[in-house]
Amino acid sequence: MAKQQKQATWGGRFKEGPSALMATFSESVSFDSRLALYDIEGSRAHAKMLKEVGLLKAGELKEILRGLKQVESAITKGEFDWKPELEDVHMNIELALTALAPAAAKLHTGRSRNDQVATDMRLFFKRACASLTNALIDVQSALVELAQTGQDMKCVIPGYTHLQRAQPVPIAHHLLAYVEMLERDKSRFQAIADQANVCPLGAGALGGSTLPLNRERVAELLGFVDSRGRPRVTRNSMDTVADRDLYLGFTGASSMLALHLSRFAEDLILWCSREFEFITLPDTFTTGSSLMPQKKNPDALELIRGKSGRVIGNHHALEVMVKGLPLTYNRDLQEDKPPVFDSCDQLELCLAVLSEMIPGIGINAVACAKAVGDPHLLATDLADWLVMEGVPFREAHHVVGTLVGLAEDQGCFIPDLEDAAVAAVHPAMINPDWRKVFEVTRAMAERQGTGMAGFRPVKKELNHWRRSLGM
Ligand code: ARG
Repeated sequence: MAKQQKQATWGGRFKEGPSALMATFSESVSFDSRLALYDIEGSRAHAKMLKEVGLLKAGELKEILRGLKQVESAITKGEFDWKPELEDVHMNIELALTALAPAAAKLHTGRSRNDQVATDMRLFFKRACASLTNALIDVQSALVELAQTGQDMKCVIPGYTHLQRAQPVPIAHHLLAYVEMLERDKSRFQAIADQANVCPLGAGALGGSTLPLNRERVAELLGFVDSRGRPRVTRNSMDTVADRDLYLGFTGASSMLALHLSRFAEDLILWCSREFEFITLPDTFTTGSSLMPQKKNPDALELIRGKSGRVIGNHHALEVMVKGLPLTYNRDLQEDKPPVFDSCDQLELCLAVLSEMIPGIGINAVACAKAVGDPHLLATDLADWLVMEGVPFREAHHVVGTLVGLAEDQGCFIPDLEDAAVAAVHPAMINPDWRKVFEVTRAMAERQGTGMAGFRPVKKELNHWRRSLGM
């Protein structure tokens, strides 16, 4: 068998290069090439610092920066020749650069791919979190607009517990519940962006370097700075290259977001069914059946629900991979990137779909009014009315329960019962005012506390979100 060519960067101590199968097995450029621009950014900063501390000459730095520009332009134009046999994005760029700028042979001074990949990924996380945050704001804004439409229509639907009709709620209140969830998702991504904002370069392979590197300067050049512009660098070189908390934080936050989107999708899937008919979905995000001509299926929402499994799986895959790894870098860790990228990409897609789909949702006022017309949804309000009449709540609950039973026996609802029959259940019911409890609009007006499912608090919340989302 022909001898394999020696590996170009680390081949020094080997007699033979890796087998073709090993090269295929160990490459990561197929997925980490997306870090290329961050890698170049990192190299620029590292080279500038090397020059400042006297490890590169001015001419060498110039040559390296010029070469990096050429490589960058080839990559952005899609003309770069990615070579799987060079393993990863770092070695591909370095070797292409060295061919253009021989001084680049000095670029890896005081640097390892371990702190290099950690840097690239931190830059990636900062960008990804910012972009997911923007996408979340778009979905929140679309939800607030839809909620506003529902509020303007004074649309009320049954709220459910156990998927049984429970109490009437403004449809806007239901929609704003998701705006709350997405707000928490945003804060999780913002926290991750903040944790990512610490520079790993200088940690080297695991123990730093004997060279006079200026870590703080590199951090400054790469924008790893606090709110006052002071550089932030990692404090333990071993932790720096072994740590995958950020990755797990990101996939964990992604799982939570995916869960929220999945529950939202499920609500909408129910709402657009013939059984509910609360909403209609736009044609543009639904599909037909190849067999049943009448079908309009909520595929986009089902895909969002389905993708949550995949995103949760990504988090689990990372957890299992990291568990039990000794410090510091182990090659297992190369497998850390596909789950992160996949969660990021899938969620970006889901959020884009939602922000385009939500404005096309129609609210079906007639069906909502019909569903919420069941007077027994206000049974709790009748108990509250009795409380205001001085009846202890436990007793009031029992009285209303008895009335529900009575109505069921007669095949009607409480307001259909004869006054005398009602008054016989409890002396407080002699006051005929109890009947006004069974107006949904009254219930919506009476719920006034912060965060409650009434028109006034919902109006306040809509204003709050408009302000906070800059709408
Ligand atoms: N491609 C590698 C990864 O993503 C880069 C770090 C390689 N380090 C090493 N010691 N082989 O993990």
